[in-house]
Amino acid sequence: MSVQGPAEHLAWMREARLGLFVHWGLYSVAARHEWVKNRERTSDEDYDVYFRHFEPDLYDPRAWAREAREAGMRYFVVTTKHHDGFCLWDSQQTDYKATRTPAGADLLAPMVDAFRSEGLRIGFYHSLLDWHHPDFPIDGYHPQRDDEAAKAAAAGRDIARYREYLHAQVRELLTGYGRVDYMFFDFSYPARQRPEIWGNKGREDWGSEELLAMVRQLQPGIVVNDRLDLPGQGDVATPEQYQPSAPMVVRDGAGLWEACQTLNGSWGYDRDNLDWKTPEMIVRMLVDGVSKDGNLLLNVGPTGRGELDDQALATLRQLGGWMRRHSPSVYGCGPAPFTPPPDCRYTMKGDRLYLHVFSWPFRHLHLPGLAGRVELARFLHDGSEVRREEIAPAQEAFNVQPGGLPPGTLTLELPVHRPDVLVPVIVLDLRR
Ligand code: GLC
Repeated sequence: MSVQGPAEHLAWMREARLGLFVHWGLYSVAARHEWVKNRERTSDEDYDVYFRHFEPDLYDPRAWAREAREAGMRYFVVTTKHHDGFCLWDSQQTDYKATRTPAGADLLAPMVDAFRSEGLRIGFYHSLLDWHHPDFPIDGYHPQRDDEAAKAAAAGRDIARYREYLHAQVRELLTGYGRVDYMFFDFSYPARQRPEIWGNKGREDWGSEELLAMVRQLQPGIVVNDRLDLPGQGDVATPEQYQPSAPMVVRDGAGLWEACQTLNGSWGYDRDNLDWKTPEMIVRMLVDGVSKDGNLLLNVGPTGRGELDDQALATLRQLGGWMRRHSPSVYGCGPAPFTPPPDCRYTMKGDRLYLHVFSWPFRHLHLPGLAGRVELARFLHDGSEVRREEIAPAQEAFNVQPGGLPPGTLTLELPVHRPDVLVPVIVLDLRR
């Protein structure tokens, strides 16, 4: 079956480059990772305490959406349901949803409205796994995997019934909230990829082909990620917690890739995890991705009370401060056909080449292949000129240009002091 859409439906996402991932659910109350139910092998009964006490009294999605926009994000992806099975929306298929908690309301609808009115595109993360549904088999990832009594009682579980539930819920999500731009399914673990997991799941279990066809039919033009176990059919590859070392080729180049990154190693709110990435690292990740034609989906895990925690806010605001002046080197940019000097990244859009300097050199930056090709070099943050020298090959040994630099190298003369921005950027206007 071919359900591939033309690459144009990805144009907005490639242009956007930066999105916000939001992991929010019952695990935010436990506050020790969104896999807490799995990790601690928690029973449904014990986990239910988070359901009975899910009280997001400070929840203000307009504040989240504003922060995201001010951080420079152009789309967002929220966990409609994570692996624990809890639904943020008022699903007609279950009572395991926000409306039945003290929150007492559909939490998804106001979030979608808020992000849409800040101008961001709408993405839904939806877990294929479900550790609450009575027909989801107790497999090697399930919290009750070592509970012999639960396993014996689970003998009659029928994944076909779960599959119907999964499809019905996705249908609700794609018919009840207006235009949805991005569907992020998570995740498959077929035996050929994860032989070590007992009770693997993949395309037959999820009914992936039918699911994908339904998604594309209900929301023509929607972007779908790559975790349905349908090789070659996802629009977006979604590496998580690392930056690929080279551009990822998706669907022979027609697709896109997006690095999913956490702020501190956990997706859900994780109070005692202080392994925060610095704002500078985040900017570098973003730039590194764009230089390889990829996006960054940066995660926040709001608290059980419904707020972004202070550290996440501080990081988003610093990112926003950088984006305010530097977004031209991000939005709509892609890779450049030049090799950057060490510790630098190029991005490019039209005739503009953006040089991102990760490590400040001693006075000079040598740019191979650019002699004679640059009309003006300027810092992006203040538009101020950066002087340059083009030394004829015969003079290479003299003073500035060390021997060994290939002819055609352009040398930038940098100020001694590194500009006080998270990552300095030099704009090189190329001659036509
Ligand atoms: C993983 C994890 C998960 C997280 C996700 C984000 O597959 O299971 O907890 O939601 O990736 O990409």
